[in-house]
Amino acid sequence: MNLVFATQNRNKAAEIQKMVPAGITVQTLQDIQCNDDIAETGSTLEENALLKARYIYNKFGVNCFADDTGLEVEALQGRPGVLSARYAGESKDAGDNMNLVLEQLLHESNRKARFRTVIALILDGKEHLFEGIVNGYITVSMSGTGGFGYDPIFKPEGFEGTFAEMTADEKNKISHRGLAVNALIGFLKTHTNHP
Ligand code: IMP
Repeated sequence: MNLVFATQNRNKAAEIQKMVPAGITVQTLQDIQCNDDIAETGSTLEENALLKARYIYNKFGVNCFADDTGLEVEALQGRPGVLSARYAGESKDAGDNMNLVLEQLLHESNRKARFRTVIALILDGKEHLFEGIVNGYITVSMSGTGGFGYDPIFKPEGFEGTFAEMTADEKNKISHRGLAVNALIGFLKTHTNHP
């Protein structure tokens, strides 16, 4: 069975390919000759993941899934949330985004935040949602050089360093994305005919 991941990122798809049950081939948008820029116009992560998956399902009629991730800061009422990629502007600059969050929390003692990933799967025409959450705190300054996005200012609960100070393996084991993918994989294992 082919399962299209609504992403242009082959690395993301390759990561998931390693985890899915044998007999499932994870394809990217390139594999189905889809170069469309699917606008993420939803106001929640769920809406964005669903609208990407529905777009692919409606246009190509294939089993597929899509994801959306956001950093949700408690003192900012859940922002940046769906705006995470472009919080400080359309240039989508990670440094600018982090500086804006740090600035907005400058005099704030509640530093609680979480990363949340939502995956929308459409399998045989039916929609399913999966979620992964990692709770943590926003630091007072950037620390570490690994990872991407907001990693240098996010310290997961129970850990000494930021995501950017962890190895990719350490982060993947506890990350929002890893947890959401595990939920998806668990579902596929029990709902497809493949071992
Ligand atoms: P996407 O939905 O995976 O494209 O993520 C949207 C935005 O959330 C990214 O552009 C990053 O700014 C942020 N983000 C997502 N995942 C992570 C992560 O694991 N670490 C840090 N930032 C992330």
